[in-house]
Amino acid sequence: MNVAVVGATGAVGEVMISILEERRFPLSCLYPLASRRSAGREVEFRGRAHPVTPLEDFEFSKADIALFSAGSGVAGEYAPRAAAAGCAVVDNSSRFRYEPDIPLVVPEVNPRALADFRERGIVANPNCSTIQMVVALKPLHDRFGIERINVATYQAVSGTGREAVEELNAQTLARMEGRCVESSVYPTPIAFNALPHCDEFLANGYTREEMKIVWETRKILGDESIRVNATAVRVPVFFGHSEAVHIETREKASAEETRRLLEATPGVAVVDEREAGAYPTPVTHAWGADEVFVGRIREDISHPRGLDLWVVSDNLRKGAALNTVQIAEMLVRQYL
Ligand code: A2P
Repeated sequence: MNVAVVGATGAVGEVMISILEERRFPLSCLYPLASRRSAGREVEFRGRAHPVTPLEDFEFSKADIALFSAGSGVAGEYAPRAAAAGCAVVDNSSRFRYEPDIPLVVPEVNPRALADFRERGIVANPNCSTIQMVVALKPLHDRFGIERINVATYQAVSGTGREAVEELNAQTLARMEGRCVESSVYPTPIAFNALPHCDEFLANGYTREEMKIVWETRKILGDESIRVNATAVRVPVFFGHSEAVHIETREKASAEETRRLLEATPGVAVVDEREAGAYPTPVTHAWGADEVFVGRIREDISHPRGLDLWVVSDNLRKGAALNTVQIAEMLVRQYL
């Protein structure tokens, strides 16, 4: 396969390229694409430097697959062009996620939805917070029937992009050295802080990030009846999103059976020993790992059919680049 990576110089694009190499994706030519700002830059793949091409100059008929991670604007303009040139597109932005004829896929959860990719030649990769949550909740929904989800996220800055990682770094150093802190990516300082604000505010008082979790969870689990309430919080963590997930089920879910189900779920690692350090965190477990880690599994003392979980995963890997590459692998195996 000849593979184009759109946004190759970005936080997610860079991880996509390393995952393509790690997983020995059947690739003959890699085309790293970015904006004109990156002209002259190179990316490393299989021990060789590959020059970055400006997106406007690229002829998509040269690629069989294009992995996009350059934001909604770029996806809206270039993904349909790539698809029209015969290229199978997997887009990591939110541009196409809610269109009924575009599949929104997490391979462990709804692999069959991928068959619809032929309609438009585009597959959407879900939001990072949604992916890790549905990987953990799918077996519980199948077994107990989830009626309602109440989730609070603790999201790493790398989800915003490379500039946000640099901002947290610079602000942390500035604070430690007693210098003035400047914010440009976020509206308030992110270092040593917590911001209940991811993406823009919508008319209903929720943020777009929170509503993405609502819309995408229903689409991926194929169940519009699931009620979802989300609060998305940006925290000063570099890599790895955490989520306090509370579910209410039709049939009572015991902590013991939940643990057994999750231990048998591909892509999930249960870390739940109920002692100091024996629970997943972004730094000790998620950073650089592929799994969705689940801990703090317990029955809710305030609700007869409530259950609590703590779900942690690397937002750049399973939350973005890894899921995208897994979709591309399924396309190669079954559809191209
Ligand atoms: P560039 O580095 O040339 O700006 P991040 O999410 O980490 O901020 O990365 C965004 C990625 O999307 C980068 O690779 C960036 O390239 C790319 N990108 C942003 N805008 C455009 C554009 N208009 N055309 C092509 N690539 C773009």
